[in-house]
Amino acid sequence: MWTKQDLYEAIGKRFADHQLIVVSNRQPYAHHFREGKIACQRTVSGVVTALQPVVTACSGLWVAHGDGSADRHTCDPRGIVHLPPEQPQYRLKRVWLSKEEVSGYYYGFSNEALWPLCHIAFIRPSFRAEDWQHYQAVNRKFAEAVLSEVNDRKAFVWIQDYHFALLPAYLKAARPDLVVAQFWHIPWPNPEIFRICHSREEILGGLLSNDLLGFHLRYHADNFLATCDREIDSRTDQDRTTVTRKNHRTRVQPFPISVDFEAISRDAAAPEVASLEDSFRAEFSLNFEHVLIGLDRIDYTKGILERLQAVSRFIEKHPEYRERFVFVQVGSLSRMHIRRYKDLNDEINDLVEQINWRHSTASWTPITFVRRTLNYWESLALYQLGNICIVSSLHDGMNLVAKEYVAAKNDLNGVLILSRFTGAARELTDAVLINPYNCEAFADQIKVALDMDADERQRRMARMREQVAENNIYRWASRFVLELSKM
Ligand code: G6P
Repeated sequence: MWTKQDLYEAIGKRFADHQLIVVSNRQPYAHHFREGKIACQRTVSGVVTALQPVVTACSGLWVAHGDGSADRHTCDPRGIVHLPPEQPQYRLKRVWLSKEEVSGYYYGFSNEALWPLCHIAFIRPSFRAEDWQHYQAVNRKFAEAVLSEVNDRKAFVWIQDYHFALLPAYLKAARPDLVVAQFWHIPWPNPEIFRICHSREEILGGLLSNDLLGFHLRYHADNFLATCDREIDSRTDQDRTTVTRKNHRTRVQPFPISVDFEAISRDAAAPEVASLEDSFRAEFSLNFEHVLIGLDRIDYTKGILERLQAVSRFIEKHPEYRERFVFVQVGSLSRMHIRRYKDLNDEINDLVEQINWRHSTASWTPITFVRRTLNYWESLALYQLGNICIVSSLHDGMNLVAKEYVAAKNDLNGVLILSRFTGAARELTDAVLINPYNCEAFADQIKVALDMDADERQRRMARMREQVAENNIYRWASRFVLELSKM
């Protein structure tokens, strides 16, 4: 199993004399004013979960948007705060953005243009000139923040995600000697889809300023290379692993992201998780034979409506399961300033109400929808309670809920129902795989999961656990860094 130590050694081999700087939009911790006091809250996000162990292992610097109400009160004049609060091991530099910048760069270009463009969930991307201007300006602001911390030292800057497609170009223009790499955490679409993007040349030019560019899957990397072939003056080499543009080579490789298997597996067995399980059991009245769970950001890519419809269809087809199971869907509000997200939230409410009204009995309501953001410990408790976990994304780069669920199931007593359209489905082939667009077959697969005998269930879960334990977050990060060492 890959460990923190392996990652530390991988970094030491190539970057001993470099500063490690991670850049992401979302910060790992936010400070908020609560009842006259300042509270520090760990952010719930796949990217943060993945990166925290990496930055900790290397005592690096993390640069991110400071969006907490009390953030400015907790850092030094350069925006720096030491984290985690209980035992500081790395530094976070907060970048301050105005409301207009957040609106144009985060809500607008990142999440109304690039997000739907890359996910292909049949939501039309919106390209607005003013959003694009803010996106450029914020990418420049982050470049300045990074450069001000690097000074004249050597540094390895590891950029995360679709919020920063232009940042590599700005960094390299100022300091061509920096090692700049980026991981794109969401899918990359085929060239036919990408070509509707108004600023495609600038975006591709930005990404091709990286020394290394990572995607979850070979399929996404191939889509990216095909997009470059069509849309920008560049040359892809024969084995299709590097692209050269203006004498700069970018290596393009798949690195399927993962979770800290060992930590999750250990923490899932902690007494505080058991006591949270008890309180959830009481709060959601979970005294049924089967507990199905779902845990997502409320996002149209997650297939939450499709999942609810499949549960409803399952009840219609198999009324003998009434009063024998309950489905607890936890959804955290997300990107609520975007119309489509607001509407989806309302649509989920309506659908849950309709389904419960149709199928409920005097002593049973099939679906409990909990609109809440669970912290790390609460999510582990939910995983423990669910003997079936449903992940039904319409499209997902990886999906870390699937891997967390597997890592948390120490007793092997769990079945994962997983959309074929997640990156995770390539690795977790022992899940019960579904097409969320096919309601009938999805409902049938719920039955397969419920009826699976204990031996089969445990065999499958054991194999999935082996897979996640072996391909854990330290392997992901170490492989990324070792790839840079070869260059
Ligand atoms: C998902 C994606 C990540 C992305 C994150 C942003 O988890 O897979 O790639 O960074 O959403 O979420 P946020 O709440 O920060 O918009």
